[in-house]
Amino acid sequence: MDTENRRGFATSLGAIAAAAGGAIGLGNIWRFPYTVGVNGGAAFIVVYLLFAFLLGMPVMLCEFTIGRNAQSNVIDAFGRVSPKHHAWKWIGIMGFVCSMFIYSFYSVVAGWTFHYVILSCKGALVGLPSDEISNVFRNFTAGTWEPLLSMGMILLFTGIIITAGIEKGIERFAKILMPILFGIMLLLCVRSVSLPNASEGLAFLFHPDFSKLDSRAILSALGQALFSLSIGMGAAMIYGSYIRKEDSLFKTSLAVTAADTFIALLAGIAIFPAVFAFGLSPASGPSLVYEVMPNVFNSMPGGVFFAILFFVLLTIAAVTSTISLMEIPVSYISEKTHFKRSGITFVVSLVVFGIGTLASLSFGLLADFTIFNHTIFDFLDMVTSTYLMPIGAIGITLYVGWVMPKDKLVSELSNEGSLKIGWFKFFYFIIRYIAPLALLIVLVSGILKL
Ligand code: PHE
Repeated sequence: MDTENRRGFATSLGAIAAAAGGAIGLGNIWRFPYTVGVNGGAAFIVVYLLFAFLLGMPVMLCEFTIGRNAQSNVIDAFGRVSPKHHAWKWIGIMGFVCSMFIYSFYSVVAGWTFHYVILSCKGALVGLPSDEISNVFRNFTAGTWEPLLSMGMILLFTGIIITAGIEKGIERFAKILMPILFGIMLLLCVRSVSLPNASEGLAFLFHPDFSKLDSRAILSALGQALFSLSIGMGAAMIYGSYIRKEDSLFKTSLAVTAADTFIALLAGIAIFPAVFAFGLSPASGPSLVYEVMPNVFNSMPGGVFFAILFFVLLTIAAVTSTISLMEIPVSYISEKTHFKRSGITFVVSLVVFGIGTLASLSFGLLADFTIFNHTIFDFLDMVTSTYLMPIGAIGITLYVGWVMPKDKLVSELSNEGSLKIGWFKFFYFIIRYIAPLALLIVLVSGILKL
């Protein structure tokens, strides 16, 4: 293998920024708040926190371990860690397909977000009544060319960064974009909690009422943790392969999980007090940020400025995630062929643009075209989050827990004995028994639509 290809992140902070950037995305700022909203608030968050740290983080650590030990793309990684077990490469192949599918529908939503940056800059939503704001959203997403153009811009930004390489592209941009994202988020939180009646929104977020928790909410907390931490399809694995041998994988996974959770909570703090302060519904579902938030900005002093900041924040979060999605196919193809990264990026982007076009049109022209009763967009979302990610995560934990030689695992986690890993027994127990079982429950209940 060409050593140039296997150059990784130059610093531990860069590795954390890149991996956190991959994990932090629309899942945190768009999906987390509305999932909390429809599942009743604080009690859901408590369950989410448990899942993120007790299940999500160990699975992420497994992915980092496989990636760094194998020093390869996600498909070849399994056979390299344990050469007798080549068949496990199917987990990697699934991850490859899954990353292309997620990228395709994710970039549609990321495109909407980018479009809202432009609308906010133009002040197009200023002063509109709430039903007009909803109409703007529905008409835009049902359109043909505008959403496609916006999606194309996301693919372009992502492609430029990917083409620049691991250290000069992914790492460098993560180090610039992540602090900006964090700063904007803090500003929005300060604005939101300083609104009159902010306490109602904070109570919704932080006073748990466990009577509101049903099995559905619990499953959706686990599903949200998987999606938000980008687990089960190789995104953490490929970044793991770029982490330096002297960095602690445990610390990196802890920092990424903590950052991802923290940003999701901050998104809740930025959104709910504002939603309550203006008497809007927290349970409005996926359209929360596009249909509800513009109303919030309209009623808020300085709203135009905060609206721009908010949608810029969402776009940055989305692009640092699309980068991690794109790196999976690009790294594989560039390790298998002699084509340049730029050419590979271009071709992968074209394929994603093709699938993404179908996903985007499923809000308009192709709204009546369904696969198993799902529009194309919903189908891609469903196949990845209900099937591919849980199956991938189960495969990854079983592989590390039962197939990978234990001494190799210990050596990778302890950097060949130089780090203390007192937590190992607990971790090993979780990934051998608890995680596969819990993930199996998510998978089965997702399939049976429990
Ligand atoms: N974790 C990302 C988010 O929260 C989504 C994602 C899933 C990205 C899987 C990459 C892989 O938005």
